[in-house]
Amino acid sequence: MVNLSINGTSHSVDVPPDAPLLWVIREHLQMTGTKFGCGMGLCGACTVHLDGAAVRSCQTQVSQAIGKRITTIEGLDPEGRHPVQLAWIAEQVPQCGYCQSGQIMQAAALLAKNPRPTDQQIVDGMSGNLCRCATYIRIKRAIKRAAQEV
Ligand code: FES
Ligand code: FES
Repeated sequence: MVNLSINGTSHSVDVPPDAPLLWVIREHLQMTGTKFGCGMGLCGACTVHLDGAAVRSCQTQVSQAIGKRITTIEGLDPEGRHPVQLAWIAEQVPQCGYCQSGQIMQAAALLAKNPRPTDQQIVDGMSGNLCRCATYIRIKRAIKRAAQEV
């Protein structure tokens, strides 16, 4: 059994230590807000936080998350009112929505580390999160809006 702390709650799951954290979150614990995109660390759809840092959960073995604070989109804010989420709503960022929980988790980690990022720092910090609907301009606008609130 592997014990994990996810969104402030302890979970015991019967998985091999090299199971991808993404699989455990989605398939075993049915937290489906975190998305499977490429499975190769290339798109960012699966982004969660480990001790506050953004990681690709498809590339994170569950053993690497033991003893760490795991946060998924469901736990970013208990009421879904994290400043990044509010900015996302205000700027009407999503189109199909598939990439957006990963985008929000990446943006939240970026602002936690750097509350007043420059345009270039936003571009650099978000460059690993792809959006097939090309919502990049709205994402950048929302991050700048959230930066005023964080
Ligand atoms: S699904 Fe993890 S980076 Fe694409
Ligand atoms: S909103 Fe459709 S992939 Fe980003």
